[in-house]
Amino acid sequence: MKILIVGSGGREHAIAAQAAKSKKVEKIYCAPGNAGIAQIAECVDIKAMEFDRLVAFAKEKAIDLTIIGMDDPLVGGIVDAFEAEGLRVFGPRKNAAILEGSKAFSKDLMKKYKIPTAAYETFEDADKALAYLESAKFPIVLKADGLALGKGVLICNTLSEAKDGVREIMTDKKFGDAGNRMVIEEFMTGREVSVLSFCDGKTIRIMSSAQDHKRAKDNDEGLNTGGMGTFSPSPFYTSEVDDFCKKYIYQATVDAMAAEGRKFQGVIFFGLMLTKDGPRVLEYNARFGDPEAQVVLPRMKTDMIDVMEACIDGTLDRIDLVFEDNAAVCVVLASDGYPVAYEKGKVITGLAAFDGKEDYAVFHAGTAFDKEGRIVTNGGRVLGVTAKGATLPEARANAYKATEWVSFENKYMRHDIGKAIDEA
Ligand code: AMP
Ligand code: GLY
Repeated sequence: MKILIVGSGGREHAIAAQAAKSKKVEKIYCAPGNAGIAQIAECVDIKAMEFDRLVAFAKEKAIDLTIIGMDDPLVGGIVDAFEAEGLRVFGPRKNAAILEGSKAFSKDLMKKYKIPTAAYETFEDADKALAYLESAKFPIVLKADGLALGKGVLICNTLSEAKDGVREIMTDKKFGDAGNRMVIEEFMTGREVSVLSFCDGKTIRIMSSAQDHKRAKDNDEGLNTGGMGTFSPSPFYTSEVDDFCKKYIYQATVDAMAAEGRKFQGVIFFGLMLTKDGPRVLEYNARFGDPEAQVVLPRMKTDMIDVMEACIDGTLDRIDLVFEDNAAVCVVLASDGYPVAYEKGKVITGLAAFDGKEDYAVFHAGTAFDKEGRIVTNGGRVLGVTAKGATLPEARANAYKATEWVSFENKYMRHDIGKAIDEA
């Protein structure tokens, strides 16, 4: 089979690496890809939102399956564009990707189908939102309705902070059109867990759990980032939690989408909070997490291409999804200064140390080739160093050892990825 992957980050590198393991796959293309993906795929200079060019490329190369990694093209309807031309593509259609694309939609869905989540109100008018805050309890959570690069959520401790937040989102349009509507919701506390799943519209198969670390600095201090590291499985995801989610959340979500005429085929990412009253849905995503994919996919034993084809064909009930009985930790190597200001173009050395080591991987997030063909830093998050181990502490020790194999000027990482597992 010829595969095309759409995206350019560490997640897409992990997807490409898994596709490369499939016996069915002869050739992988990635648009636009990066310097790491280029080692296992042919990268094509087409951006993820250039649907017409991507469709034309898939036709020209007779691509058998296109896999969409990123949220923006999914929410924008890339799957519909491929299907309209008779092309096979993995990911939800536009009318299902709205599960991630609109927080108001997903909250209303959960309310209607009694899926456990935080209490909330939706607003389309800044004055009404401001008035509502006068009698609200603090802290409170403000969410821009649409996609905002993971930044559209504000946790406000006081009334004046929350009023500023409403103005930023709805009046100043800090997150653009994503702020035409907003959700104001109850603040919850508890441990967060990411659960990824495959869905064919009827059947859902849960992948091994994971947890990410979103803040830039150790001890969860500093600014929010795209994710500084992950571990899988999460020891906090107990069989009791799993039973609860199977009963009230996973199948309920797939069935709710089907009942709304929005059959979901692809990956649903459940962002869960384990509160003292039980698991609650914080958010849905319509794709693999980044950097969750970098710890979950390397542990997957079942051929990923078979699973994706079953999602498209509606035959997921025939798939037995199996994961290795081990653990993985991913430590992100970033450019110092991320997520605010940082330098790019620093030469990266030591990457060859990962060659041929089955339990280690270095997934490229922000890398490029310079004029001399050297691999250089090209983003805030540069690399994701993943290692497996029999247990989480072993995987963590292995991952941190492997971070030393790679060097570049400005290299920055957190030193406590997976440390929370000591508390489990
Ligand atoms: P979201 O994009 O909705 O997952 O929100 C991003 C992050 O904000 C989550 O991972 C949580 O850490 C936090 N968050 C979102 N909603 C809530 C809530 N209702 N209570 C507490 N924290 C929240
Ligand atoms: N790691 C969180 C996300 O991919 O949205």
